Amino acid sequence: MTFDTTENYVQRATDTIMPLYAIKDAVLDKAKNCHVWDTDGKKYLDCIAGIAVVSVGHCNQRMIDAATDQMNKIWMCSGSYQTDPKVKAAELLTGMCCGDQIFFTNSGAEAVEGALKLARKWAHLNKGPDCKEIIAFEDSFHGRTYGAVTCTYKSTKQPEFGPYLPGVHHAKFNDLDSVKSLISDKTCAVIVEPIQGEGGIVPATDEFIQGLRDLCTEKNVLMISDEIQAGMGRIGKVFAHAAYDYEPDITCIAKGMGGGFPIGAFLAKKEIASVFKYGDHGTTYGGNPLGTRLVYEVVDQIRQPAFLKNVMDTSAHLIAGLEKLQADTNSIEAIRGKGLMLGVDTVYDIGKLLGALQDNGLLATQAGAKSMRLTPPLTMGIAEADEALEKIEYVIKKGVM
Ligand SMILES: Cc1ncc(COP(=O)(O)O)c(C=O)c1O
Repeated sequence: MTFDTTENYVQRATDTIMPLYAIKDAVLDKAKNCHVWDTDGKKYLDCIAGIAVVSVGHCNQRMIDAATDQMNKIWMCSGSYQTDPKVKAAELLTGMCCGDQIFFTNSGAEAVEGALKLARKWAHLNKGPDCKEIIAFEDSFHGRTYGAVTCTYKSTKQPEFGPYLPGVHHAKFNDLDSVKSLISDKTCAVIVEPIQGEGGIVPATDEFIQGLRDLCTEKNVLMISDEIQAGMGRIGKVFAHAAYDYEPDITCIAKGMGGGFPIGAFLAKKEIASVFKYGDHGTTYGGNPLGTRLVYEVVDQIRQPAFLKNVMDTSAHLIAGLEKLQADTNSIEAIRGKGLMLGVDTVYDIGKLLGALQDNGLLATQAGAKSMRLTPPLTMGIAEADEALEKIEYVIKKGVM
């Protein structure tokens, strides 16, 4: 196959695609497990993984085989029809979650949107028509549709897109008193990321998340766990709330559950899910046989004890290597995160650091104002972790101008 030059692809993209992303000067062509190659044949270690999406590795053979088989059977049908993949994926996920029933969506934002609708209807019926307020957190991220983006903290800084959803307040993350000062008889739900991803890889403290659970129970307010980035094995358990050991009323998942196929879901306890009646919610593509077949194949790999152990072993190895580098240089200010969801603050300009890492064959993203975010495929082993550490060490020690 012959390719255009990178420069020309960048120009063609600049001409035809809305300028909503910082365009990187690498045109990605193919991938295998933890690595990707660009159209010039340059190889990169992928510590982005589509931002915590490619859970079971790029071009995972079980996914390819299942997709091929399913595409030769049936890809799409109306949500009114049941299919073997949809029912199996639903049973697999509800079997591991405190939520008894699931609704499949096409993205994370749609999972959040559905969760907000469910919480509001539950509160309307159980607490009264004025109980519609939502508490989210400063530096949160929940997606780009209007309900989800209103809960996202950034919305408070972007009035040009308003008016947003009324009744959404932002408390300080990891500060229970801040939640207590906002919670009232009008609060129907609190939505929280167990680890803030876009906000800079900031884990909730155990004390905060358990305190939040207790507070929601005491006030009869629903707790929505947005595990779209932290879930699906990324912090050592299929569900992030299981890794932290709390039980949300509604759980939102996406990203890693499809391994690269766009799909999301929200799950809820039966007494909450049962307020949804025929016609209250829906989606054209959500729960389609191709997507749910892939969810089954992906989650069935993630849930294996050896797979989850590898995540935590690789994480420990990466964190130890980063801590050594922190001790050896004056360049690392902080290392945060759990499992394979890590954030590293350095003294360097984050844009220049990510550019230097890319030049040196490692792809990483920015989170928050200045953190280098590492969310590699969960199949990353010790050898790839050493490769990442070598590349980071080289760039950090050389310095970024
Ligand atoms: C915690 C969290 N919630 C929601 C979303 C939105 O997901 P999507 O981009 O699939 O709509 C994201 C995406 O980064 C996320 O990290």
